[in-house]
Amino acid sequence: MLRTLRSLLPLLALALALPLVTACGGDEVKNDGTLRVGVVLPMTGAQATYGEESWNGIKLAQSDLESAGLPTVRVGGEDVPLKLNLILRDEVSKKQQAADNAKSLIEGEQVHVLLGSVASSHTKAIFKEAKESEVPCISPASTNDTLTVQGGPYTSRICFKDGFQGAVLARFSLDQGWKKAAIVVDKAQDYSVGLAENYEKTFKAGGGNASMHYYVTEDTDFSNVVQNVANDNPDVIFISGYYAQAGPMIKQAKDKWAGKPIIGGDGLDSPELIGLVGDTNAEIYLTSHFAADAPDEQVQNFAKRYKERFGKSPGAMAALGYDVLGVLLDAVKRAEDPFDPESLAKAIRETKNVKGITGTISLDNEERTPVKDAVIVKVAGGLKFHKLIPAGGS
Ligand code: PHE
Repeated sequence: MLRTLRSLLPLLALALALPLVTACGGDEVKNDGTLRVGVVLPMTGAQATYGEESWNGIKLAQSDLESAGLPTVRVGGEDVPLKLNLILRDEVSKKQQAADNAKSLIEGEQVHVLLGSVASSHTKAIFKEAKESEVPCISPASTNDTLTVQGGPYTSRICFKDGFQGAVLARFSLDQGWKKAAIVVDKAQDYSVGLAENYEKTFKAGGGNASMHYYVTEDTDFSNVVQNVANDNPDVIFISGYYAQAGPMIKQAKDKWAGKPIIGGDGLDSPELIGLVGDTNAEIYLTSHFAADAPDEQVQNFAKRYKERFGKSPGAMAALGYDVLGVLLDAVKRAEDPFDPESLAKAIRETKNVKGITGTISLDNEERTPVKDAVIVKVAGGLKFHKLIPAGGS
C-alpha cells in the first residue's frame, strides 16, 4: 500500500503543480475591455439589509452610468467601449467568508478591483487579501479608524471614519445636557470597540463621564447588560453596535430603560431596526451618512428613483453603494491603464471632489478616507432626518 502511494507521489506532485502553472502562465483572462469588479457584501445573515441596500445602490449606479455612456478604453491599440462586469459574492455576515470571497475573486475571477464590505471587521479581512495581492479595494461603508492605515495604499473607503462619527455622537450628547453615559459595546466587532473609544474620548474631554458594558455579536439574551445599564442610571445610553443586536436589546430593555434616551452610530441604520425594537416610547437618535428625507434636492431625487425601482425607501447603505461605483468609474476614466491594478489604485488615490449622494468625496489624503458631513437621524415611526453635521463640525 505504502509502496503504491510512494510511486504515485510524483504524479500527485505534478497534479498539484498544474493549476499553478496555468494560473501564472498564458491562461490569463483576455482583456476585451471588460472591467471585472468583485463585490463582497453580506446578502444573508445578521447584516443582510446592509448587503441588500448596497447592492441595490450599486445596480442603480450601474444603470445610470451605462445610460450616460461608459468611457472608451484602449485595448490592443484600439479604443473600445468599456464594459462593467460586477461579480457579487455573499459573505453571509461572516468575517472568514468575506476573506475567502475576496481570495476567490482575486485568484479565480481575476478581478481588477474589489468593492466591499460593510462591517469593519469583515472589510479588514478583505483589505488584507487586497494588500497581499495588490488589487485595489474600496469599502463603501466601513468606518473603523485603522482600516486603511493597516490596509495600505491599495485600500480606501468612501465614508467618514469613526474618529469623526464618535466625536459627533459625543458632542451631540453633551449639547443635549447628557453628562453621564452608559456605553454598550460588542466586544467581537472592531467597529463597535473603536467607535466606543472615540465617543468616550470626546465625551470625557467635554466633561462627561461614561461606564462601559459589553456583549458579543452572537448574544440574543441581553438581560445582564440591560440590568447593568439600568443600575447605572445614566442620562443617555449609547449602543455602539449593529441593528441585529441593538434592536432586540432595546426591545428587551423596554421597562428597565424607560425614559432614557438611546443613541447609536451608523450600524443602527437599517430598515429593520424599527421592527426589531417593536413598540417603544424611547427617544432614539443615530448618526449616519444619509437620510432619505433630508432637505436636499439631489437626495430627494435619488430617494425617489430608488423607491421606484426597488419599492422601498433607501437607507445610508443604498446611497453609499451608489457612490462607491461612481468613485470607481471616475478613477477608471482617469487611470492611465484601468486594467493595471497599480495604475487603477493610483487613480483611486487621486480621487478629488467627486460629487456623490452622500457628499463630496476626495481620497487624496494619507488615509484615503473622505472628510464628509454626517446626519443625525431620529427614530420616529421610521428613520427621520433630524440634523446635518458639517464635516469636521458638530
Ligand atoms: N460603519 C459600519 C462599520 O464600519 C458599517 C455600516 C455603515 C453600517 C453604514 C450601516 C450603515 O462596521
